[in-house]
Amino acid sequence: MAQLKTLDLIAILLSISLLTSIPLTQGQQPKVNALVAPITKDSSTSLYTVALNSTKQYLIDLAGPVVWSPCPTNYGLVQCTAPICNEANSFRYPDCKPIINGLQPTGFCKCVSSTKNPVTGECFSGNETLIGTYLASTDGKNPRASVNADYVNICAPDSALSGLPPSAVGGAGFGRTSLVSLPARLAWDLSFHNEFVLCLPATTNAPGVAFFGAKPYFLLPPNSPDISSLLHYTKLLKSPNNYDAAYYLNVNGLAINLQAVSFPGKNEFNFDSYGNGGVKLSTTIPYTVMRSDIYKRFLHKYKEATKRIPKMPAVAPFELCYNSSALSPTRLGYGVPSIDIMLNDGKNWTIFGANSIKDVETNTACFAFVDGGKNEATAITLGGFQMENSFMHFDVPNSVLGFLPTLLGIRTTCSNFNFTSGGN
Ligand SMILES: *[C@@H]1O[C@H](CO)[C@@H](O)[C@H](O)[C@H]1NC(C)=O
Ligand SMILES: *[C@@H]1O[C@H](CO)[C@@H](O)[C@H](O)[C@H]1NC(C)=O
Ligand SMILES: *[C@@H]1O[C@H](CO)[C@@H](O)[C@H](O)[C@H]1NC(C)=O
Ligand SMILES: *[C@@H]1O[C@H](CO)[C@@H](O)[C@H](O)[C@H]1NC(C)=O
Ligand SMILES: *[C@@H]1O[C@H](CO)[C@@H](O)[C@H](O)[C@H]1NC(C)=O
Repeated sequence: MAQLKTLDLIAILLSISLLTSIPLTQGQQPKVNALVAPITKDSSTSLYTVALNSTKQYLIDLAGPVVWSPCPTNYGLVQCTAPICNEANSFRYPDCKPIINGLQPTGFCKCVSSTKNPVTGECFSGNETLIGTYLASTDGKNPRASVNADYVNICAPDSALSGLPPSAVGGAGFGRTSLVSLPARLAWDLSFHNEFVLCLPATTNAPGVAFFGAKPYFLLPPNSPDISSLLHYTKLLKSPNNYDAAYYLNVNGLAINLQAVSFPGKNEFNFDSYGNGGVKLSTTIPYTVMRSDIYKRFLHKYKEATKRIPKMPAVAPFELCYNSSALSPTRLGYGVPSIDIMLNDGKNWTIFGANSIKDVETNTACFAFVDGGKNEATAITLGGFQMENSFMHFDVPNSVLGFLPTLLGIRTTCSNFNFTSGGN
């Protein structure tokens, strides 16, 4: 509860009049550059969790504004005028009921907030609180000493956990807030810049990695360069809807095998004035979903580019499946046409077989993109499978994404962080 601690500290300092030279840092911990936590892929939902306090799993919601989970029996309430209360409420989903902050009999006005389970879409509301936790600090190579931090949590009913990976005790929003998302609060608490890395594992057998805070970010094998030196950078967009905490890519086209997919209009990927459209990054859907008008042309072009590969009957939710024994394995997954998501600033997010073709049955591998229907609000929502073994560095205040679409090209994976403790 660093916010409370700081206030206490001020009070103590004032009362013993020692106030000139002691910096108002968050407690007695040494300065921390960054934190590290393992990411687990769940086999039943194909979604991802991050471990807080060593072992408690939280669903990673890249587009979510806050952390939520059922609260312990005893917890502190937050004042309804606190900045963390205002910000949490400014990210209320418009389809969730507005909440009224509660004036207590004591005259204390407590903070109540609403949010939703991103998998089921179910809204709920609860008291806001701060929960203390331990996370490993890191030098970028190994976990180091544990440090104490807290996060802003909305107390959720147990029923809010439905649809989550069975191991999950709540959801962790990584969205673009300045105070209340998990990365924002850790950055505030430990006085580092609001930046984080997500590196989602492609396997349920070995964890991927999340970093909070500054580079370097190393993955095995030993003596590989700091991954941050290998990234491409692109400006992220935000939705015109201020309550939307998601990160959007600035896309101007798609290409297959270096050939552009043609679209009738010029603004297939843009936002309209209601904030519909855009190319969103999401970790709470397993596969990329496209609005029908985009999906149909994209699928058609891909079909054309792979017409010589023997097909297999489709397996839902996919429409285009291949005889996998007819596909040749390469370092970047099956040897299939590449897909370029062309960004406005000239960079491409290039997707190779490992992120486009999913093995679904013995002998059957499918084109892992899903038709969202013609009324899908978002033009494209990039899902988990397309971001596995991608390295994504979010600089939230500057709205910049540093990315490497696949680590396989440099012969490593997200499961190659050395989680063996490097001592203190
Ligand atoms: C975190 O872990 C510590 C020690 O391992 C434990 O005392 C504490 O209750 C845990 N906190 C939560 C919120 O689980
Ligand atoms: C919120 O806090 C009040 C005390 O002010 C308590 O009575 C209530 O059960 C809490 N609600 C939830 C959902 O935790
Ligand atoms: C991006 O992709 C397009 C379409 O495949 C290609 O023409 C262009 O050369 C690529 N740009 C870069 C910088 O690789
Ligand atoms: C799939 O391809 C393999 C090798 O090319 C072939 O032996 C097999 O019969 C094919 N299976 C089907 C169901 O077409
Ligand atoms: C992982 O880190 C530990 C602790 O620094 C070190 O002893 C070990 O050799 C490292 N593992 C590899 C594969 O480099």
